[in-house]
Amino acid sequence: MQSVEAFYNQLSNRYTELISRCVPRYDEIFYNLFYYIPDDLEPLQILDLGCGTGNLTAAALQHYPQAEIHALDISADILKECQQRFADKSNVYYHQQDFSDLDFELESFDLIISSIAIHHIPDYEKTDLYDRVHSLLKPGGVFVFADQTQGINEEIYQKHIGRWKEEAFKLGSTEADWQLWMEHQDAHDYHSPVSWHLNQLEQSGFDEVDLIWKNIMWAVMWARK
Ligand SMILES: C[S@@+](CC[C@H](N)C(=O)[O-])C[C@H]1O[C@@H](n2cnc3c(N)ncnc32)[C@H](O)[C@@H]1O
Repeated sequence: MQSVEAFYNQLSNRYTELISRCVPRYDEIFYNLFYYIPDDLEPLQILDLGCGTGNLTAAALQHYPQAEIHALDISADILKECQQRFADKSNVYYHQQDFSDLDFELESFDLIISSIAIHHIPDYEKTDLYDRVHSLLKPGGVFVFADQTQGINEEIYQKHIGRWKEEAFKLGSTEADWQLWMEHQDAHDYHSPVSWHLNQLEQSGFDEVDLIWKNIMWAVMWARK
């Protein structure tokens, strides 16, 4: 089976265009992710987990042009696309790292963000990742991320997939695009219910945890240290 790294390496130059035809209300996800960042938080150090070609990194740069933004991805090729996209920015730093092996100083970030990436690791790795994210945030720091989630039972989950297909086709996805995502999903996706994520974030020590936005299977979750 092709690894998630190889999949994104091979997709790197088509990714930005493909994702816009695949994820319903993609812009709204980003809008909400930043809208709920607390007014009293001034993020100077930001980490973007699973940056891909840099769609979320670009939004972070718009909101916080003065911040130091660390864009991290396992795929060298997609990270290269991200690097080319922000070639004129001196405040974006690139890290080819796996979520299971984050190598940063403790308490070095004010804000950790991620979009549609964490579902690529199994639940036991997500648990470790949430512990690690908690340890990398400064006190009062925020972890806010968007991801695909599972329904609380199989029927709801299958209905989510059906609704996703309807919306992806409205956005212009073709049958070939859909097959690509479904094969990718079978090989690399580990969706977990929203309640599972919120519970794990609490277990990792976050003081406040909330679901701030949801549409079909896409959720934006928020946690403050
Ligand atoms: C669907 S893309 C999302 C990219 C971007 N955040 C966006 O919203 O367009 C998921 C990204 O997560 C990365 N990824 C998957 N598993 C990873 C892991 N274990 N460690 C680091 N990055 C990973 C992939 O290489 C890919 O670039």
